[in-house]
Amino acid sequence: MLCLGIETSCDETGVALVRDGRLVGEKLATQIDVHAVFGGVVPEIASREHLKVLPVLYRSLMEEHGLKAADIDRIAVARGPGLLGSLLVGVNFAKALALASGVKVLGVNHLWAHLLSPGLEVELEFPSLGLLVSGGHTHIYRIDSPVSFELLGRTLDDAAGEAFDKTAKLLNFPYPGGKLVDELGQKEDFDKKMFPVPYVNNDNLDFSFSGLKTCVANFVNKHPELKLPGMKLREDESPETASMRNRMLSSFNYTVGETLKVKVERALERNKNMKSLIVAGGVAANSVVRRVMARSVQRFSIPLVLPSMSLCTDNAAMIAYAGDCLAQKGFYHDLGFEAIPRGRVVPLDWSCD
Ligand code: KG4
Ligand code: ZN
Repeated sequence: MLCLGIETSCDETGVALVRDGRLVGEKLATQIDVHAVFGGVVPEIASREHLKVLPVLYRSLMEEHGLKAADIDRIAVARGPGLLGSLLVGVNFAKALALASGVKVLGVNHLWAHLLSPGLEVELEFPSLGLLVSGGHTHIYRIDSPVSFELLGRTLDDAAGEAFDKTAKLLNFPYPGGKLVDELGQKEDFDKKMFPVPYVNNDNLDFSFSGLKTCVANFVNKHPELKLPGMKLREDESPETASMRNRMLSSFNYTVGETLKVKVERALERNKNMKSLIVAGGVAANSVVRRVMARSVQRFSIPLVLPSMSLCTDNAAMIAYAGDCLAQKGFYHDLGFEAIPRGRVVPLDWSCD
């Protein structure tokens, strides 16, 4: 089974080929530079960039591997959740390719694909608990198989990645700032008391990060010298300012890690027979999140499954892999399937052989 994956749900354009669960090749083009001048993703520009880049990436991937469209067994495309205009570019491309080649197409849930992505590197075991922490989502799932996900908890407001990006923006960091928040935080010890661990004194598995963002905003308002002048770290700034900023970021990383820990451990207590904990999405690249989760699984004597760094952020390899898992079970879509914007549940409207 050779599966083509197409990813255009936000600001990365990707195509990849997976054969029987193993990555054959991929192409990825990021739009970070295009959006950085605006301090965040501009949806209209993102769609136009996908339109320009996607066919070029596809042709180059296929030529590199000496393949034609007819050699593909399944075309998998991220159908949502994501930016609607961006998704429409990928979904339309996939449908056109399906029409022209006669190959069956399959719309893939981008969030499931994130959580299944480590399957490209290790054998996944089920049932497992899945924590998805990305720029747009913070979800806890019980995953019974690659085609069976039960949502146990989700953020009520901002996603974990959004909390990182907003913190970065408050400090005038260049976009996207999550990685720099992580790196600078590693330079100082955290202060457990600087920020309250949000939304844990309850009985549920949901998250809320908007209060934490307000706490950071208040702190930065009190210490405006922490904002980077000209969006750059300067060699000549006072060591005290750098140290205070790094300490604040270390405390921020700690606070996010603690929130995730409380809810993940609660979910593991309630779901006794989990074979592993899978943590995926852009924020799974965060050093504190990786460390905290590694400690949590020890308590439950289960392995922690983390995708490698390149699989954490958006990519088409994970779409091709998820598509391959679904296609192996006979799933495909009729050509009328929809793209699903952020905030709407991705329907299970497949057909099956
Ligand atoms: O999964 P992803 O690439 O895109 C979405 O589907 O949203 O996640 C992007 C998010 C951004 O919010 C980015 O700031 C965050 O992941 N991120 C990080 C790190 N690397 C990326 N957040 C914290 N620490 C990191 N090292
Ligand atoms: Zn994503």
